[in-house]
Amino acid sequence: MSSASGLGIRRPLVRMNYWRQQANNLSQRLIEIRRHLHRYPELGYKEFETARYLAQILRQEGIEVREHVGGTGLVATIRGASSGRTIALRADMDALPIQEKTGMPYASIVSGVSHACGHDAHSAILACTAMLLQRYRRKLAGTVKCIFQPAEECPPLGGAKPMIDAGVLADPPVDAIYALHTAPNLPVGTIGIAYGPMMAASDRAKIKILGEGGHGSAPQQSVDAVLVAAHTVVALQSIVSRNIDPHSAAVLTVGQLQAGYRYNVIADTAVLDCTIRTTDVHSRQLIQDKIEQIVDGVTRAMGARYELRYTLGYPPAINDTVAVDQVIKAAEVVLGEDSVRIQEKTSLSGEDFAYFLEQVPGAFFWMGSRLEGDRKQYPAHHPAFDLNEAMLPLGVAMFCQIVEQELFREPLAGGE
Ligand code: NI
Repeated sequence: MSSASGLGIRRPLVRMNYWRQQANNLSQRLIEIRRHLHRYPELGYKEFETARYLAQILRQEGIEVREHVGGTGLVATIRGASSGRTIALRADMDALPIQEKTGMPYASIVSGVSHACGHDAHSAILACTAMLLQRYRRKLAGTVKCIFQPAEECPPLGGAKPMIDAGVLADPPVDAIYALHTAPNLPVGTIGIAYGPMMAASDRAKIKILGEGGHGSAPQQSVDAVLVAAHTVVALQSIVSRNIDPHSAAVLTVGQLQAGYRYNVIADTAVLDCTIRTTDVHSRQLIQDKIEQIVDGVTRAMGARYELRYTLGYPPAINDTVAVDQVIKAAEVVLGEDSVRIQEKTSLSGEDFAYFLEQVPGAFFWMGSRLEGDRKQYPAHHPAFDLNEAMLPLGVAMFCQIVEQELFREPLAGGE
């Protein structure tokens, strides 16, 4: 109670958002589902039991479920009382090849496999979102597709692309798509989001330089692959510094360079292995083209030859402005006015939700999941990574609020 009430001044009651109340009622169920998935994690493309478990839960609620979409993918469809647009919500289901070291009672019982990126939470949140929306389907003008996607951690193919190829965005065609991800660096009750680029493209270039071996004392009779490789490494570093717009984030890292046999032998081959991160499609294409030009030019000038294998990973995840506005509006309603952290810097990690964003407008956002109290927060993909389960109902409320804004004929306005 504030002191104001003691003075007899009546303050307007701050009412908790309706979806947040409803989601809070599902807290136990959310924890139960999340911990079940956590205990029995499965790697990408092998989410057989995960998909079966989720399908069973959803069918018990009378929800229409389609299995084996693009492999182990699952789609739950909620059809409204009247026709309208179609909104998709997406969660990933796969775990990582990491031996869990949280020591928690719900820790993974599968040796060498764990949910160290919070995809267990994403799936639990989406399952409970589907349950809630199913109860409110009469208020829906349109359709909600809940997409449970495999293999997010498996670039370059991933799990989004196979689901798109299997038609998940068609029949009825999806008008907008949303996804959330646990954020160990943000407190529970906040979200992080960016207009435009949200996550980077992650590509790989493997360059083999073919020289001519020889005796270390007679360089004139050889083409030294070590020297050509050294020039190539230096020249490659001019791409980001001299060709990329300084306002666009990009990285080219030569992570591996292998060459040579012995101190007095001139190496005949050298192999450079590089990762390339970009945040827009223009830079992405430009770096790919420049790498080939530089490798071709340097090797030619020095009398060597080359083989280049360029592997495209996930594209950059580009958020749509209108969809970002929807997410921010939902956060302000569900979590409060100061709950939104606009991300000034694009994360240079990859996310295959980008494939969905290439097809339809949408937004990907971080959902604060930082542990509180004595427990130390470890980053995602760390063996001791864990999340704050208080974020689970907030994720459900966010998804439901976004759907209300997109598809409800009239707002719930705090209850019914
Ligand atoms: Ni992840």
